Amino acid sequence: GGPVDIDVSRLGPGQQVTVRWRGKPVFIINRPDAALQGLKSPQLLDHLSDPDSEVLQQPPYAKNWARASNPRYAVLVGVCTHLGCIPQFQPAPDPNRDWPGGYFCPCHGSKYDLAGRVFKNVPAPYNLPVPPYHFISDTMLRIG
Ligand code: FES
Repeated sequence: GGPVDIDVSRLGPGQQVTVRWRGKPVFIINRPDAALQGLKSPQLLDHLSDPDSEVLQQPPYAKNWARASNPRYAVLVGVCTHLGCIPQFQPAPDPNRDWPGGYFCPCHGSKYDLAGRVFKNVPAPYNLPVPPYHFISDTMLRIG
């Protein structure tokens, strides 16, 4: 398959859409300000295996705190880096179970934040990959 274009203007704040690219699910999230602030929380960073994206799981333009070229939109390959299940989108923070919002893999319990960064003490070894992408206009995202 070739590139896939998505009009991100149809994604409201906090919403996620999954598209298929090269046979894989790709998650796109419109991250509201509160979610973006949360990505910088020292308490969260403490719980992540690779908070600074040192492992090569993203293009250079996504090696930053938001793991994105435009912080508003996360673009992530939705394949768990443990054994390849599709993580579930659970964006709402839940302090009762120490959950900051992100993705939960139903197969063996790996957890990722809203930038696809993997938590410590889970089976998945790496952050979710960021696919190659760029914005071809203010609202049109091209993956691939
Ligand atoms: Fe996701 Fe094992 S495949 S935790």
